[in-house]
Amino acid sequence: MALFKIKKKLNENTYKLDMNAIPQHIAIIMDGNGRWAKAKGLPRVAGHKAGAENVRTIVKECNRLGVKALTLYTFSTENWKRPKDEVNALMKLLVDYLKNEFKELQDNNVVIKSIGNIQDLPKECRDQLRKSYENTKNNTGLVLNLALNYGGRDEIVHAFKKIMNDVNKGDILLSNVSEDTISDNLFTKGLKDPDIILRTGGEQRLSNFLLWQCAYSEFWYTNKSWPDFNEAELHKAIYDFQNRDRRFGGLK
Ligand code: IPE
Ligand code: IPE
Ligand code: MG
Repeated sequence: MALFKIKKKLNENTYKLDMNAIPQHIAIIMDGNGRWAKAKGLPRVAGHKAGAENVRTIVKECNRLGVKALTLYTFSTENWKRPKDEVNALMKLLVDYLKNEFKELQDNNVVIKSIGNIQDLPKECRDQLRKSYENTKNNTGLVLNLALNYGGRDEIVHAFKKIMNDVNKGDILLSNVSEDTISDNLFTKGLKDPDIILRTGGEQRLSNFLLWQCAYSEFWYTNKSWPDFNEAELHKAIYDFQNRDRRFGGLK
């Protein structure tokens, strides 16, 4: 019998979650910061700042719920197209987040990792990221995986080149290249595919996020902007996830 299948409306936003079926890997497309700010008559960057602050709330709650990995789409390979000032502000927010959250992340036992072409980020970001990986590598809680300068297609190109190189060197036979070979050459190597991909901000698209890994992920969208996405919304997403019927192509 499915446990806790009844939605208990303790209050408007309380969902009774099955703590034995918490998604292990949640991926979030944190969208809507700019529109959130615009609606308040604020500059777009104020939305990004509020968004960065919200990361703390969601990281803490995911950790508390026992989520193993949280991948946050933080900066896409296409986001370089934005005005320079906005890109610079996003890079600075990343560095500030990693610096300011140091204690909070340690207290929450969080491991910082990233996916994407980190070497093309500004030096300050690379240096701070390296420090954060190093400082948190012995933690045992939630893996906070930041998708930075990340694009799903770029990741696949990257994997393709690595595999071709291994084939050319004779380290692997072309006939032995499998789905696992590809998975193992992606930035997400070793990370379980996301159980659920959430997108805030109302759009219903992937925007080049985790193209290979999303094969059997559940999708969940909300019109709420990322700065307004709180614990209750996260619970709603997980509650909905727990009530989906995942068949993976088979039959029940
Ligand atoms: C998401 O918010 C943050 C990043 C893409 C870095 P947006 O900046 O895309 O906000 P909207 O979609 O313009 O509202
Ligand atoms: C996706 O949001 C990227 C991140 C959240 C980092 P975008 O705002 O860049 O996506 P589009 O342009 O609406 O597809
Ligand atoms: Mg957007």
